[in-house]
Order: sequence, then C-alpha cells, then structure tokens
Amino acid sequence: MDLKPYLKKMQQMVDESLEKYLPRRDELPGSIHEAMRYSIFAGGKRVRPVLMLAACEAVDGDISKALPAACAMEMIHTYSLIHDDLPAMDNDDFRRGKPTSHKVFGEAIAILAGDALLTEAFKLLSNPEFTRGLSPDVLLRVIHEIAVCAGSRGMIGGQVVDMESEGKKDIDFATVQYIHTHKTGALIKASLKCGALIGGADGSRLNAVTRYGEAVGLAFQIADDILDIEGTTEQIGKDAGSDQTRGKATYPAVIGLAESKQRASELVETAVEALAGFGEKADPLRAIATYIVKRKS
Ligand code: IPE
Ligand code: IPE
Ligand code: MG
Ligand code: MG
Ligand code: MG
Repeated sequence: MDLKPYLKKMQQMVDESLEKYLPRRDELPGSIHEAMRYSIFAGGKRVRPVLMLAACEAVDGDISKALPAACAMEMIHTYSLIHDDLPAMDNDDFRRGKPTSHKVFGEAIAILAGDALLTEAFKLLSNPEFTRGLSPDVLLRVIHEIAVCAGSRGMIGGQVVDMESEGKKDIDFATVQYIHTHKTGALIKASLKCGALIGGADGSRLNAVTRYGEAVGLAFQIADDILDIEGTTEQIGKDAGSDQTRGKATYPAVIGLAESKQRASELVETAVEALAGFGEKADPLRAIATYIVKRKS
C-alpha cells in the first residue's frame, strides 16, 4: 500500500483534534498555553497517535472513537520531549526543526508546559464530552494503560536509566534493552494496545497487536539511535550526533551500527508476523513497521 497519503490523512485528523482539545493561545495565562502549542504544533510525525488509529482500524474499530486517546498520547509524548531536551537532561537546542521549548520560553515555562501537557492528557481522557462513545470499562482500561506506560515502570523508568547510564563505559546489552523498551517502547506499545482496546479487539487480537507494538516500539528507538549517527540536524530536526557527545547508552554504542540495523529489520519481521491472522485492514500497520526503520527523519 501507499503509506504516504494514509499518514497524511491520519496526521491531519490528529492535528485537527489537537487544535480542538488544547486550550486556546489567548487563554490566561497566555505564556503556558503558547508554550504547550508551540511544541505540539512544531511538526512532529504523530507516529504514536497514528499507530493507535491504525490499530483500531486493524481490529475493525471506529477510529473516531480513538481520537481523544490518540491525542492524549501525543500530548504525553510531546511533554516527554520538552523535558528530555532540558539542560538537566539531554541539553538539546533543536527539536522538530525549531529551537527547543526552554530556548524560547525559558526553563521554568518549559518544565511547566511539559507538566501541563501531561495533565491535559488525563483531563482529555476523562472528559465525557469527548469520550462518550467508549464504554466505561474500556475507557478505564485505556486510562490505566496510558498511566502505566508513562510512569516510573514505563517511559520515566527508561529515562532514569538513560540518564544514569550516560557517560558510563561497558554498558551491557540488558541495560540498553531496558532503556529502549521503556523510554520509547512503552508509549508505542501502549498506543497499539489502546487502539485495539478501543476498536473492541478480543483477547487474541489484542495480544497480536501488543506483540506488534513491542517489536515496533523497540525498532523505533534503534532507528532513532541510527539516525542520530547517520542523519543530519536538518533531516532529523534535532541535534545530530548528540548521543555520542553525551556518551549515551545506545544500540550502536553497545552492539555496533551494522548489528543494530540487522536487529531493527528483524524486529520489523517479527512485527509483521504478529499480524499474520489479520486481513487487509492491518495493511497500514504492516507498512508503518517498515517505515519506522526506513524513515529519514
Ligand atoms: C523522538 O520521537 C523521541 C523518541 C522517543 C525516539 P519521534 O521521532 O516520534 O519525534 P516526533 O514526535 O516526530 O518529533
Ligand atoms: C527520548 O530518547 C525518549 C523520550 C523522550 C522519552 P532520546 O533522547 O533518544 O530522544 P531524542 O533523540 O532526543 O528525540
Ligand atoms: Mg534522552
Ligand atoms: Mg534526547
Ligand atoms: Mg535519540
């Protein structure tokens, strides 16, 4: 299938919904709402919300029902990027092709914009106006899934070990695996799982989509590590070469570039195999798996 128009259509739906859900720029206090919107609309690929919508579609669900949760996931992801770039963390100056939040608004507002986006995500998920179409049982499972993936047993846990491993020699494979499956894999896997839950998947389909999510989640971070080495700042919209400068525990640093590429393509195969029992409605997910490792930005 031709993934480009599909991605464009989904990204547009996500952007329109985010526009609707976020506080307006002129709502007081203006500085925080401007900062939240600055990072959200800076030009992200929307991979996590698109994966959620595609998972919902793959199990024959109604994707409009997944839009609030998809946007909540993008808010949490964007918050994680704002904080990831702070001087106390990766200390990066560019993100999504623009100066990072703290460079534009200062550290205090950048921290608060991240906090506010995280909170806004759960406000949206619990807003009856937007989540009317979901059964209370499914909605509660989705909220719990998202809370767990974002917390200290998920994304935050990965960020902690990423920071603690910085500059250390002899990082072992198990550590980098923990970092990657948590700092990046957790949100991606949960996006898939929530899409399937909202789409009404039965146990075996939910399992299959979750296995797909695990594989592409890890592949996504391996590809990110590779792009940090092989991409230019212009292409990736963020400071290239940042990982080596900071002595990050990355896949290429631990097992080498060639082996990292090999593992990434094996993970794509694993992801596609997990969807063997699905029909053509899962074609977007199959195509996205390949896109995740072939992308240049
Ligand atoms: C970057 O994520 C951070 C990682 C978790 C690897 P993306 O590559 O999805 O960034 P955006 O959302 O497109 O800016
Ligand atoms: C980021 O990992 C993971 C999260 C933001 C949770 P990286 O530090 O590798 O992401 P980039 O390369 O800055 O986007
Ligand atoms: Mg980081
Ligand atoms: Mg970073
Ligand atoms: Mg990176």
